[in-house]
Amino acid sequence: MTQIKPAVLVARAIFPEVLDKLRQHFDVTSNDGDELWSPQEFAQKLQGKAGVLTTGAERVGPELLAACPELRIAANMAVGYNNFDIAAMTARGVQATNAPDVLTETTADFGFALLMATARRIAESEHYLRAGKWTRWSYDMFAGAEVHGSTLGILGMGRIGQAIARRGALGFGMKVIYHNRSRLDAATEAACQARYVSKDELLQTADHVMLVLPYTPDNHHTIGAADIARMKPTATLINIARGGIVDDAALAQALREQRIAAAGLDVFEGEPKVHPDLLTVPNVVLTPHIASATLPTRLAMAMLAADNLIGYLIEGKALTPLNHPASA
Ligand code: GLV
Repeated sequence: MTQIKPAVLVARAIFPEVLDKLRQHFDVTSNDGDELWSPQEFAQKLQGKAGVLTTGAERVGPELLAACPELRIAANMAVGYNNFDIAAMTARGVQATNAPDVLTETTADFGFALLMATARRIAESEHYLRAGKWTRWSYDMFAGAEVHGSTLGILGMGRIGQAIARRGALGFGMKVIYHNRSRLDAATEAACQARYVSKDELLQTADHVMLVLPYTPDNHHTIGAADIARMKPTATLINIARGGIVDDAALAQALREQRIAAAGLDVFEGEPKVHPDLLTVPNVVLTPHIASATLPTRLAMAMLAADNLIGYLIEGKALTPLNHPASA
């Protein structure tokens, strides 16, 4: 007798090899046209599905869960999971998983790239050159901020924050300070050569502030006008964490008034929309949420999400669980 395979949905277009792997175990509905579904369409596509591979953008909250009673697992191919309502998922007996570790070093590379581009005004000067404005050398043309030997302040010291700290301390001789919900143990602090400080001290003393903390409703606009006002006028602010952590309107105003030197942003509140004021200030480097975007890393993230679906629905255990629903 042939066994009926569980049905799963893949919410966006994805690597063919990941779909092939899923098809070995599941009846797979894929989004080959890479359509952007409304919440209602998403709920409709999820009817009768036991699992879903999400990208980090699709909301899994009480309404969706109520509309999709057969759903047993949502596997995010992202380390961040603010698209999931974990409490609601747990209450409904739905497993949640994310994709940690496989993206740590790649994302830290990008954080550093964005820091370098921002501090050394790479995007701004490239636009100037392309516009044909470069007619002669001058001693202070696009003079930026030092990176080596400066003070790097990291807000959010999880795996990615630590990988950025190591790059700063060991590669660039930076003094690394950090603030986190909880202080790291002494051995981890020593490996990162990082010193724990309060959020205020970090904002006041860092030459470069790097945001790597997860988004939660509690830290919505945790970097607002008052926080930006505490930063040095020569400082840069880098956000590779999540939109909504920074008040983008307040940041655009501070950049326009040169109350801080520059910002580098990979994430935006309400993305892919970008606050219009950010598009008109020159001293900001803007990238479209690509910190983990190398093909090997994105493949590893998607494979981990697929392995979580297989692990949970076929073998009974998720690899990187975020919750422990009663039915798990
Ligand atoms: C990307 O933003 C991720 O959370 O993996």
